[in-house]
Amino acid sequence: MPDESPRKFYGLFIVLGLLVSVLVVLGYYKDQFRDWKTYQHQFVKEEVRRATTPQQRLLAESTPVQIRQIVLPDLNRVDRCTTCHIASEDPSYGGYPQPLAYHPHHDQHPFDKFGCTVCHRGQGRATTTAAAHGHAEHWDEPMLPLRYIQASCGQCHQAADNPAAPKLARGEQVFETNGCRGCHKLGGTGGLIGPELDTVGARRTPDWLRKHFTDPASVTPGSGMPPQKLSEPDLEAITLFMLSQTGGGLPGYYASMKVIPSATEGRKLFEQKGCIGCHSIANRGGKIGPALDDVSLRRSPDWIMRHFRDPQSVTPGSVMPKFGFSENQTRALTEFLLHLRDQQVSLSLPGMISPVERGREVFRKYGCIGCHGPEGKGGVPNPNAKTAEQVPGLQHVADGYTKDELKILLLRGQKEIAPLDPHRPPPPLYMPPWRGVIQEGELDDLAAYVFSLSTKDKDLGF
Ligand code: HEC
Ligand code: HEC
Ligand code: HEC
Ligand code: HEC
Ligand code: HEC
Ligand code: HEC
Repeated sequence: MPDESPRKFYGLFIVLGLLVSVLVVLGYYKDQFRDWKTYQHQFVKEEVRRATTPQQRLLAESTPVQIRQIVLPDLNRVDRCTTCHIASEDPSYGGYPQPLAYHPHHDQHPFDKFGCTVCHRGQGRATTTAAAHGHAEHWDEPMLPLRYIQASCGQCHQAADNPAAPKLARGEQVFETNGCRGCHKLGGTGGLIGPELDTVGARRTPDWLRKHFTDPASVTPGSGMPPQKLSEPDLEAITLFMLSQTGGGLPGYYASMKVIPSATEGRKLFEQKGCIGCHSIANRGGKIGPALDDVSLRRSPDWIMRHFRDPQSVTPGSVMPKFGFSENQTRALTEFLLHLRDQQVSLSLPGMISPVERGREVFRKYGCIGCHGPEGKGGVPNPNAKTAEQVPGLQHVADGYTKDELKILLLRGQKEIAPLDPHRPPPPLYMPPWRGVIQEGELDDLAAYVFSLSTKDKDLGF
């Protein structure tokens, strides 16, 4: 009886022993067949297949199968993506299935300086596909879906000036023309009714943002933000633009190309530097220098660049000033002039736009549209407000106010909005005070614009 109990355990020991061996063997195979190894073996096999001499073959066969990484001390990152995306820099792998494909358009951002995650996000150190692409728990930077990849460009380049990121530029334009600033601060300017948006791209997912734009209350119950009626491309663009707002500037070299010399940038310089005083475009401007409409037919880009650096060097005795432009400014201006012929140029010449036109710009800049609607036609929902539960349109302002009264109202704002029903929550939107925000000259232009919205003249018909 007493010697029976140890025997009872023999079977158990054998089973346990077997289990351990199986686990060890499994672990070995799991490691052996980690997906990155599979991809590297595929790569080696392909290299061997391509070899045409015995030496090349030997070299290909001896390609080490190992973790590869790009160490980026200035970005505080280590990216191991090339462990699988191993041929990213080899154009002969163009069109191969992922992850073995060549990476298009990377010459301006060499991988040894940029790595991958600064553009794609994801988890740089991970070596399984799911974890690297950031679909892992406790990792709050999932990879950006490729259709939003241009959001990353905004970290280092100004949104509007990057000809390679048109969706980002469009997103900024949607932001600036739909009155978002009326309620939101971005980069230090804007209203206080909604939260600041400087880091919203790090806080919210693409899906959340999209849903929030079409129906804010569906993700934020009781939201005071009006649903945005945007076309599908604009909705995508504004989502992308929000994703680009991740805060935190990048250091030194990475920020060195903030402004990409583009035609847009060149046009700004052209307006700022008073070129129009001496040159005309579309028959507007001065006559001291030649008209510039067709300059791209007369002069090569190289000539134009040299002329900017020093007009005298190509036109001895020229009276055109030597402006001392930086290389980027020179490129931007040249870009602008070369594209004059394909653009519908309407330059803002000083003194040639009316106060009403300038006021329309002020209306746009401070986001009045966000509450009063395009052209001040009203219609933005403001639940429980006496004015038809909407923010009122501005077509009748000229009937009820003098210009001075209007300016006083704009500076003071109006926090108390009469409720329709005192038992329901007060209307979420109110008229913010603009004192200290809108500049003196802007205020006059704004008042002129608001008055121009008057429907008085159009009503005379009946
Ligand atoms: C373990 C291997 C592995 C690692 C490590 C890896 N990837 Fe991938 N990647 C893949 C595979 C496989 C695919 C193709 C299938 C897929 O999309 O999941 C792919 C596809 C992609 C795509 C295309 C997605 C699409 O929508 O077409 C991108 C972009 C990408 N990877 C970026 C990265 C970045 C950035 C890293 C580093 C943070 C990384 N990958 C690390 C294996 C890997
Ligand atoms: C400067 C930003 C930037 C960096 C850095 C970058 N990418 Fe990309 N990547 C892009 C963009 C933009 C695309 C969209 C494709 C295009 O440019 O046509 C892309 C596309 C891809 C794709 C999908 C290609 C396709 O057409 O299916 C993969 C995979 C990828 N990148 C992986 C990587 C890996 C791995 C690294 C690092 C070695 C990396 N990327 C570094 C911007 C970047
Ligand atoms: C981490 C910062 C960073 C990110 C992110 C980034 N860039 Fe760049 N980009 C640079 C720097 C720095 C240069 C200048 C590189 C050089 O000349 O050494 C550059 C150069 C360029 C140029 C060439 C400019 C010229 O005319 O010389 C283009 C175009 C460009 N980037 C587009 C993009 C696009 C599109 C994206 C997003 C997919 C992007 N960049 C993302 C930093 C960045
Ligand atoms: C009439 C005022 C108003 C206007 C106009 C407005 N918003 Fe909002 N927005 C709000 C309020 C209030 C909230 C906070 C409640 C919520 O999350 O819905 C908000 C929330 C947001 C959020 C979520 C922020 C976060 O951190 O959760 C984003 C993103 C946003 N708005 C973007 C925009 C954009 C882009 C526009 C222009 C197309 C815009 N908003 C126009 C009032 C406004
Ligand atoms: C004080 C008057 C003056 C100003 C200001 C001026 N220019 Fe000129 N510009 C001239 C004159 C005169 C010429 C013709 C002589 C020469 O080629 O240098 C000229 C020539 C040019 C040419 C060559 C045109 C051709 O067909 O040969 C270009 C391009 C040009 N200017 C661009 C600009 C730009 C851009 C600016 C603003 C940054 C500017 N200029 C500012 C007077 C001026
Ligand atoms: C955050 C939303 C919001 C923004 C942004 C906003 N307004 Fe208003 N505004 C209102 C509301 C709500 C009222 C209605 C006040 C009331 O019912 O008493 C109003 C009233 C007015 C009135 C008086 C209308 C009348 O019929 O009495 C004028 C004029 C006006 N706003 C102009 C502007 C201008 C110009 C801007 C941009 C500088 C602007 N508003 C920005 C919400 C806003």
